[in-house]
Amino acid sequence: MKLWGGRFQKETDALVDDFNSSIGFDARLYQQDIAGSIAHAAMLGRQGIISQEESQKIIEGLRGILADVEAGKVEFSQDNEDIHMNVESILTQRIGDTGKRLHTARSRNDQVAVDFRAYVKQEIGSVVSLLLALEKALLKKAEENLDAVMPGYTHLQRAQPVTFAHHLMAYANMFKRDITRLEDCAERMDECPLGAGALAATTYPIDRFRTAEALGFARPTDNSMDSVSDRDFAIEFLSACSILMMHLSRFSEEIILWCSWEFRFVELDDAYSTGSSIMPQKKNPDVAELVRGKTGRVYGSLMTLLTVMKALPLAYNKDMQEDKECVFDAIDTVEMCLPVFTAMLDTMTVKKENMARAASGGFINATDCADYLTKKGMPFRQAYTIVGQLVQRCIQLGQTLESLPLEEYQAVSPLFQQDVYRALELNACVNGRTVYGGPARSSVEKQMRLIEDFVEARQ
Ligand code: ARG
Repeated sequence: MKLWGGRFQKETDALVDDFNSSIGFDARLYQQDIAGSIAHAAMLGRQGIISQEESQKIIEGLRGILADVEAGKVEFSQDNEDIHMNVESILTQRIGDTGKRLHTARSRNDQVAVDFRAYVKQEIGSVVSLLLALEKALLKKAEENLDAVMPGYTHLQRAQPVTFAHHLMAYANMFKRDITRLEDCAERMDECPLGAGALAATTYPIDRFRTAEALGFARPTDNSMDSVSDRDFAIEFLSACSILMMHLSRFSEEIILWCSWEFRFVELDDAYSTGSSIMPQKKNPDVAELVRGKTGRVYGSLMTLLTVMKALPLAYNKDMQEDKECVFDAIDTVEMCLPVFTAMLDTMTVKKENMARAASGGFINATDCADYLTKKGMPFRQAYTIVGQLVQRCIQLGQTLESLPLEEYQAVSPLFQQDVYRALELNACVNGRTVYGGPARSSVEKQMRLIEDFVEARQ
């Protein structure tokens, strides 16, 4: 008979058992579930709601179950629907009637809420560690490429020169925000719903502050109905994961482009590339493509949960059982993408010569040419127009700004002198941009120190 079988006269249909049960996926929460039950039983004993001996017996029984689950000795059953009822019924099988006292002053509604929160909180820690490892790989690559001048793009058109280190530090800043977003959401979810009961708490003199503390939460949640019906923490987490995947996907897209023969800015290590079954010459950036592809999956999880929650009346509804698979899938996806992406980045060869070649000759220094005139007193808008004409002239003559003869320059403005060629050198263009946050070596080094400090503070 079911744990809740008392008011029923028939067995559940097998189809319903299949449909209703979540043990197939929520078994993943066994640690949090057992820890929650241990904290609850200890508190029941301390408050005199059950006896100290009963409390002890339950706790020992639960510890035994945990050890056996860990050793692969426990088989959960679909009859018991979910992880909560599985653990409770195994406990009762093992320690007898005392086990039946565990569920005093508790409901599966607050149980699942506490398990799920604790699990998501724990996984945030893992995702943050993986992001920190990525930050370190970025710092290492940036260090090696402080002098690697490359085109910076807007509209995927060559715009102004930057360095590869500067480009990498842009991603380092995105991942830094991802880390703080995750930390921020971990802090907000750091409230323990245990003790909210089914929805209206309980008449027993439970101590929610104690269980919250025992389970590593900062404090208990403030409203029992909100406690059991809130899944904001999971939605926030999925949204932080979606943003993080969006960053990984943009980075992947760039790596895919850079690997193409059209760019040839980088080459992926053989260990992080794959071949074609028909085209012998192919070396494909499958890892980056899959990361880009899997981004859609994580967005899907976010949409799933937002949609599940969108019209639910208070408090708990069974719809909410649909909260877990999407979150688990997102966690698995993010935790698979991050290490492989980091390793791919770490082993990637940078072709500085190709980057430099792409940066030169494409009028990427046109802004600097205008700035040259402006620094000699001409209003910027006027200088802009003149340089536009010079670019037009270069295109007619098949020249670049670097190769255009001085007479051509002087024909449009007497302010042009021999020193214009120095102002047009790519290194000068990059290293003149010493503004805070700019691409000059000194500025990029400052950016790197900031990321280093950020990472170090979390080690
Ligand atoms: N398996 C359920 C879930 O994941 C646990 C809570 C069930 N509560 C209930 N009243 N049926 O949401």
